[in-house]
Amino acid sequence: MIPHSRPFLDGEDYRGVLDVLRSETFCQEIDLPGAVAVSSGTAALHLTLLALGVGIGDEVILPSYVCTALWHAVRYTGATPVLADIEADAFNLSALDVMTRMTKKTKAIIVPHMFGQSADINELLNLGIPIIEDCAQSLGNHYRGQPTGTFGAAAIFSFYATKVIAAGEGGMVVSRDRNLIDRIRDMRDYDEKETLTQSFNYKLTDLQAALGMSQLKKLSVFIARRQDIARRYDCVLRDANLPLPINKPDREHSYFRYVFLLDSMDRFINDMGRLGVVCRRPVFRPLHDYLGQTDFEVTNHVWRRAVSVPIYPGLTDEEVETVVLHMKTLLSKG
Ligand SMILES: Cc1ncc(COP(=O)(O)O)c(C=O)c1O
Repeated sequence: MIPHSRPFLDGEDYRGVLDVLRSETFCQEIDLPGAVAVSSGTAALHLTLLALGVGIGDEVILPSYVCTALWHAVRYTGATPVLADIEADAFNLSALDVMTRMTKKTKAIIVPHMFGQSADINELLNLGIPIIEDCAQSLGNHYRGQPTGTFGAAAIFSFYATKVIAAGEGGMVVSRDRNLIDRIRDMRDYDEKETLTQSFNYKLTDLQAALGMSQLKKLSVFIARRQDIARRYDCVLRDANLPLPINKPDREHSYFRYVFLLDSMDRFINDMGRLGVVCRRPVFRPLHDYLGQTDFEVTNHVWRRAVSVPIYPGLTDEEVETVVLHMKTLLSKG
């Protein structure tokens, strides 16, 4: 077979790029029948919302305490994003608060599993609105023994460079609903269609897929390493009499981010920076703050205090000990 077009890549380009992130492999990993690979987590959200029939006149609920990608994805469809607060004891969407913001127009709820720990998904499913699980930060997690991403109407993943597994850029939609998956597969690509039904160029390239595939094989090693590092940081917080990141017993934490609350958050981040360790606010700015909305008490409390310290499989033991040393020094000063 001679393909109509083919990119030119030489042997060196192909080294290490021997396979592709096939949807089937991903399905096996999280135990679901259907998946579509796309170009990013945002594209995955956009197509999932469209496939669920979300459009102008509809409302979609999402947390305020999340990156702006979710808000943009809802706006791409013409629907109205409705923000909700997070749980007081964790960083995830509060089912109680969502309930107060639901209307007849609510067409879907986007539920991110923040920082590597599942939201209270059962409570949210009980609300009776289609749920899109956003697993961009929680590939490989479980809630009550079942993989996150297998509860809602659909789930999305991101393979951006700093995510749990990296493909540079990339995303995936998974669902039990084969029709939904087929509609998304159809919209992902515009080429050689019988009609002009709205379609996109949201494909994952083979090069990105190959990298993602090779990373997927190491998923359990990556998560184990993150959990090991978290145990080291836990000791520091315990010694400083600070609360540890919430680790609920019925859901495992994969520590995509190690986030704790500190009254002197700004000073700590600046001081760590001066010592050569880059810490950040884990959410740059909550969505309600951009929009001038109020009534997000828990989000405000968390946003003013949350600190995220470096945690990823590539950290060497020496680097972890350096982070530990500086955290100890600064946190002992109060
Ligand atoms: C929770 C969440 N959802 C979606 C996205 C968007 O993913 P992408 O950057 O692949 O578009 C991100 C990215 O940071 C994220 O953190």
